[in-house]
Amino acid sequence: MKARIYYFTGTGNSMRAARVIAEKLGDAEIVSMRADPEAYPAVECEIVGFIFPVYHWTLPAPAVSFIERLKINPGAYVFAVAMPSFICGMACERLAGILASKGIGLNYGNIVNSVANYVIVYPPFPSPKLRVPKTEKKLKAIAADITAKRERDYPKASRFIKRRSKRVMTPYLELQKYADNPFTVSEDCISCGLCSRVCPCHNIILEGGRPTFQHHCANCMACVVSCPKRAIGYEITGGDRKLLDSSNSRTPLVKIMGLPPKRKLYKNPYITVNDLAKESEIWPKEEKQEK
Ligand SMILES: Cc1cc2nc3c(=O)[nH]c(=O)nc-3n(C[C@H](O)[C@H](O)[C@H](O)COP(=O)(O)O)c2cc1C
Ligand code: SF4
Ligand code: SF4
Repeated sequence: MKARIYYFTGTGNSMRAARVIAEKLGDAEIVSMRADPEAYPAVECEIVGFIFPVYHWTLPAPAVSFIERLKINPGAYVFAVAMPSFICGMACERLAGILASKGIGLNYGNIVNSVANYVIVYPPFPSPKLRVPKTEKKLKAIAADITAKRERDYPKASRFIKRRSKRVMTPYLELQKYADNPFTVSEDCISCGLCSRVCPCHNIILEGGRPTFQHHCANCMACVVSCPKRAIGYEITGGDRKLLDSSNSRTPLVKIMGLPPKRKLYKNPYITVNDLAKESEIWPKEEKQEK
């Protein structure tokens, strides 16, 4: 295998990016960060890539722990593609730091501004119809760069974002501990198990046919947007509401968290729910697999 590309995804933007780049590279495997890093090491790969959404101006926690445990060929060409909606913040610097602690450099880094998917806070924006074609175009250009093994310094946070990040984002990161408390499952649930299969954090177990959340949630939105019955809701109540109201006054977005029944949901249009549940894929794909 010439290349392995590791992606973390909730709603498919990062998986789509991994596919576009793998298709251009050929002889590549894309691996979800839901997998065990020891089962997919990058010790013999000539090209190693990392593709991820940005959460709270940084690298999502599950990606951090996956990459920390991954073994990487020190001679590989290493690239990173961040898929924020607007603010990449320190995500690439965080990745570069983890790689540096393993003696690995980052040859290429880039950003693709994508549809914002945090649907328990806001409806998807900008309009997927307008933004997805733009992201596709940029992905193709990035795939060409990577195939040519071009060098590009990774994006860094502005001084303003760095200054603000502690104050603005620390409360959100703190709240990750409670991130799945507010999930609700309605009577419409048919116990199909899709929410559990797509969860990249192995955070949902079906108990007596009912999804139960295991408190290591990244709020990635995969379960919410994959449920065929739209049975998963999000409602902050009781003790959690008091906690948010008292200790996180500087987190206006948290105060409006919830999932009105008519809220538009978003999943990347090139990625199916079954794709989200995959652990890995080899490219080029065989014709038969494609059909
Ligand atoms: C919990 C959470 C936090 C987010 N924080 C940011 C952020 O700080 N900056 C940003 O530009 N986008 C943010 N987003 C938007 C995602 O990074 C963006 O929609 C991404 O493309 C989703 O990728 P995926 O489809 O591969 O999951 C956030 C989304 C979620 C779910
Ligand atoms: S995906 Fe929806 S219907 Fe299926 S088990 Fe989960 S909550 Fe129930
Ligand atoms: S429980 Fe849902 S939101 Fe949380 S990590 Fe799993 S799929 Fe994502």
